Amino acid sequence: MGEIIAIASQKGGVGKTTTAVNFGASLAQLGYKTLLVDMDPQGSIATSFGYGRYDIRAGILEVFTKNIPIKECIHPTEMELFHFVPSNVWSDEVDRKSLIGATNNSILRNSLNEISDLYDYIIIDCPPSLGNLTYNALIAAHSMIVPIQCEYYALKALGRFLKMTRNLKIEHNPELQYRGFLLTMVDKRNNLSKRVINKVRYTLQGLVFETMIPRNIRLAEVPFYGKPAYLIDRTSKGAQSYLNLAKEVVAQKVKKTEEKSDDAAVIAA
Ligand SMILES: Nc1ncnc2c1ncn2[C@@H]1O[C@H](COP(=O)(O)OP(=O)(O)OP(=O)(O)O)[C@@H](O)[C@H]1O
Ligand SMILES: [Mg+2]
Repeated sequence: MGEIIAIASQKGGVGKTTTAVNFGASLAQLGYKTLLVDMDPQGSIATSFGYGRYDIRAGILEVFTKNIPIKECIHPTEMELFHFVPSNVWSDEVDRKSLIGATNNSILRNSLNEISDLYDYIIIDCPPSLGNLTYNALIAAHSMIVPIQCEYYALKALGRFLKMTRNLKIEHNPELQYRGFLLTMVDKRNNLSKRVINKVRYTLQGLVFETMIPRNIRLAEVPFYGKPAYLIDRTSKGAQSYLNLAKEVVAQKVKKTEEKSDDAAVIAA
């Protein structure tokens, strides 16, 4: 069964979608079969893969409102090991409202259960809110990556997010873990960035990824070219930083598995 990782934050514009697309592409580049699911009705994921209005068969909207199996919503990308499920932004407003207003919190979890054996990693891109779409994503997920934009108010509003996930864990998903907080749009040359990095690392001790994502034009160009930064320019700092993030995440997983088998050996002895 693949690991389901939600990219979540209640703050808008912090790099969730950019992370979902480029981290996912990096996992695929490392040889892991990866699926990206767009839970945001803004529908930016399809654009990031160069899909236009009439290229999409069905998406999460249809899974939620028409009971279409998620398997029928999977679309290919230019990378053989990287697939995605769009949100389907082009459906009419009534349908989008029913997606946002859906009250069953387990729709996504049940759907992903049907396909999780097909993938090593399933990445979910969440909308910038703590509404029921993010709730659905966090109930389906095994773990979370939380992007934090490297700016003065970086930690503002994080308290509400932490409280929400704590309650959600207790009520619905005790297995949910933080994979890590990810500093995005970092500009190491500027002093403010350095101060923010120190503050975030101090506040969220041990939970912040070593890898930081720099502000990089190639990452901003993803929707324009309709492909992940790795396919635009694999040597760019943006593409390389997401590749490093993927390596860090995979290494964490290996470490955890080794720790578990050590525990098992101790218990067995
Ligand atoms: N590291 C980066 N370097 C340069 N530009 C970036 C970087 N990360 C994100 N951006 C740009 O910043 C904007 C916001 O990024 P993105 O859409 O990934 O954020 P988001 O958290 O998904 O936003 P929303 O909350 O609206 O879904 C986009 O225009 C994106 O291209
Ligand atoms: Mg987004």
